[in-house]
Amino acid sequence: MKILVTGGLGFIGSHTVVELINAGYDPIIVDDLSNSNIKILDQLEKIIGLKPAFYQLDLCDAQAVKDFAAKEADLAGIIHFAAYKAVGESVKEPLKYYYNNFYSLINILKAYDGKPLNFVFSSSCTVYGQPDVLPVTEDAPVKAAQSPYGNTKQIAEEILKDIVAAGTGYKITSLRYFNPVGAHQTALIGELPNGVPQNLVPFITQAAIGKREKITVFGDTYNTSDGSCVRDYIHVVDLAKAHVAAIKLMEQPAFSGYDVFNIGTGNGSSVLEVIKAFEEATGVKLKYEIGPPRDGDVEQVWGDVSKSTEKLNWKAELDLSTMMSSAWNWEKYIAQNPL
Ligand code: WQD
Repeated sequence: MKILVTGGLGFIGSHTVVELINAGYDPIIVDDLSNSNIKILDQLEKIIGLKPAFYQLDLCDAQAVKDFAAKEADLAGIIHFAAYKAVGESVKEPLKYYYNNFYSLINILKAYDGKPLNFVFSSSCTVYGQPDVLPVTEDAPVKAAQSPYGNTKQIAEEILKDIVAAGTGYKITSLRYFNPVGAHQTALIGELPNGVPQNLVPFITQAAIGKREKITVFGDTYNTSDGSCVRDYIHVVDLAKAHVAAIKLMEQPAFSGYDVFNIGTGNGSSVLEVIKAFEEATGVKLKYEIGPPRDGDVEQVWGDVSKSTEKLNWKAELDLSTMMSSAWNWEKYIAQNPL
């Protein structure tokens, strides 16, 4: 069965393509290559033994999307990753984010409108802001977004709920990711940040390999066990498997129109704990300094994942040490084999 994977050459998309093949699906990748590398297609072939179907496509081009949908009409489902996702950049360039993240979503939904398709949306724990109660559950109040990026996720979820309510034929699940990190166990695919990494773990691995002089811990005076921020880090392979579980859930007749799931481990780790976990997993000593808190950071967030375990029949299996060692293996691989 064909599953369209938009943004399928990206970090989470590429890992999801592998898990779709492992589950017997036939993924079709579309990607505009604005934040991904075409060579990931060759890397995927090395892992799965075949080159998945790929179309370079700008999802903001309505006619091109319509033409694509005419060519690839018989899909069983769509997993929609394609979006800009840098929080800081979204504050500086909100129009770029609203234009891209909404037009791409709306064009793909319109192109297959009316067809009984299963649709998985890549959402984010960012919608919760700083939860009042931890761990945060899916029925926690969605707070005012702290960035245009987070706002695009919140509004997109509302668009999807309205579509299902209108009975257009789509069945939809929104997956609220916590913090995806790590890399495939083959070290052939992983995170490819553009320029200076904004996220913690790619910055750690680049510091470990010597590309960055030291890590700055953004604040250690928070109301947490060691003063640094707490997040729910999840291995990207576990996250990828959650997308396959969501497709399978929607294939069941019992599934009704729309649902939302927290995709995390249910455990929180502080920045300093992640640094320590990396050193213990890899034997590499890291240099870091404490800097000022980063604007927009929430103090602590981790997910209640009981609904995903019970209803999505999915649970994260890989631990923080495996997340760190796999991220390190990937960093060493691309140092030797630049893409
Ligand atoms: C994690 C922690 C930083 C870098 C982002 C997106 C979110 C989601 C996950 C898509 C924070 C600290 C970081 C550094 C540091 N993406 N940090 N030094 O901000 O929790 O979430 O990725 O769905 O939408 O916002 O991830 O990795 O940037 O930061 O101390 O050099 O590490 O302050 O506490 P974040 P992050």
